[in-house]
Amino acid sequence: TKVAVFASGTGSNFEALMDKVELESLDYCVALLVCDKPGALVLNKAAKYQVPVFVFDPKQYNFKSEFEQKIVKELQNRHIDWIVLAGYMRLIGPTLLTPFQSKIINIHPSLLPSFPGKDAVGQALATGVKVTGVTIHFVDEGMDTGKIIEQESLRIHEKESRESLQQRLQSIEHRLFPKIIQSLISSDNKEGAFLNEKESTT
Ligand code: GRF
Repeated sequence: TKVAVFASGTGSNFEALMDKVELESLDYCVALLVCDKPGALVLNKAAKYQVPVFVFDPKQYNFKSEFEQKIVKELQNRHIDWIVLAGYMRLIGPTLLTPFQSKIINIHPSLLPSFPGKDAVGQALATGVKVTGVTIHFVDEGMDTGKIIEQESLRIHEKESRESLQQRLQSIEHRLFPKIIQSLISSDNKEGAFLNEKESTT
């Protein structure tokens, strides 16, 4: 099963995924990195793991549908089955959602539906909640609104700094994301095999 990771930041989640893929025998491989920020640090990480990249600059397009069309073409050429968003700071439009229905997942550093959107860590600290966490969810047209797949919570320390909280959330992300991707894909593959078998015997 082929996965494309979409990321535009430092790529620590991308790196955690790659480390896992290289160390263990999993049901998927990372066959492409899609990045909307030429020069992003995640691109160096893709080079390190020799993952092909598709980089584009959204400013060079008039409409989201135009660059999403290009992405879809690239994904189809490479026979990508699943899309994993790891710091791709952009809503996914219908051009990309339709052909990848129920095959796009995202990781977000809060317990959704609390603190969707940008700076979830800052929002949690500003609100003064005592517990926050990480959510992995399916992607729909909304901002961090898709069906929740998994969550892990964490207690915020007294007077905890933003850096500390961010770092503790990231270490949850790095452990949880590869694990959930593996279990989603392996159960989806089994379901597919079961349906095929049923079809061929009926
Ligand atoms: C992560 O915190 C993820 O939850 C959010 O974007 C961040 C990406 O960080 N969606 P990195 O580039 O993987 O370090």
